[in-house]
Amino acid sequence: MKLISPSILAADFGNLQRDIEMLNNSQADWFHVDVMDGRFVPNISFGFPVMKVVKQHAKKFVDVHLMIVEPEKYVEEFIKLGADLVSVHYEACTHLHRTIDLIQSTGAKAGVVLNPATPVLMLEDIIADVDLILLMSVNPGFGGQKFIENTYKKIRETKDLILNNNSTALIEIDGGVNLDNAAKLFDAGADVLVAGNAVFSSENPERTIELLKI
Ligand code: DX5
Ligand code: ZN
Repeated sequence: MKLISPSILAADFGNLQRDIEMLNNSQADWFHVDVMDGRFVPNISFGFPVMKVVKQHAKKFVDVHLMIVEPEKYVEEFIKLGADLVSVHYEACTHLHRTIDLIQSTGAKAGVVLNPATPVLMLEDIIADVDLILLMSVNPGFGGQKFIENTYKKIRETKDLILNNNSTALIEIDGGVNLDNAAKLFDAGADVLVAGNAVFSSENPERTIELLKI
C-alpha cells in the first residue's frame, strides 16, 4: 500500500479550511493530526477545537497521532470528534493493551507509535492486536526535522514481526519524509508516509503529494 498522510501541523492555521480543501482535492489519502501536550513532548500544538475543524471539512480518513501523557483519558473524545484511527505512544502507555482495546471497542482503528530509540521488539506482544505501527523517524515534538536513517532497519524488523505473527498492521513513517526518501521508504515496506513540511512548504503541494507516491 502507498498512502500519503499530510500533517496538518504544517498547514497555515489562518487558512486552515483552504488547506484542508486543497488536501481534499489532492491525491492525499489521509489527514494526519498531531496532538502535543508540552509534557510527553517539549511542544504544544492543538487539541479538540482544531480536531473539530479538521473533521468538519476533511473528506478523507483522519489519522490522529497523540503525543500526550495518559492518552487513555482523551482517546474517546478524539473518536467522538471523528478520528478514524488513533495512535498512542508505547512510551506513554502503562497499560498499552487496555488502551488499544479501548480505542477498538469504539469501532475506531488503533495504532502504536515507537520513538526512534524504542526497539521494534517491544511490539512482540501487541503486534497481533493493532491496526497500525507508527515508527517515528525524528524525535517527536516538531515538524521540519532531519530524517533518522536507522528507520529503514526498523521498517524491515517491523515487517518481519508482522509476517511472523500473521498481523494485518500497516506500517506508517512520521518525520522528515521528503521527495528524496519517500520511494525508498515504500520499497523498504512502509504503507503510509506522513509529510508535513515537504508538502506545505513546497511551491505546489498537490504536485508534491503526487510525486511522494511515485
Ligand atoms: C513530529 C510530528 C510529525 C510532523 C512531521 O512530532 O509527529 O507528524 O508534523 O513533520 P515533517 O514532515 O515536517 O517532519
Ligand atoms: Zn505525527
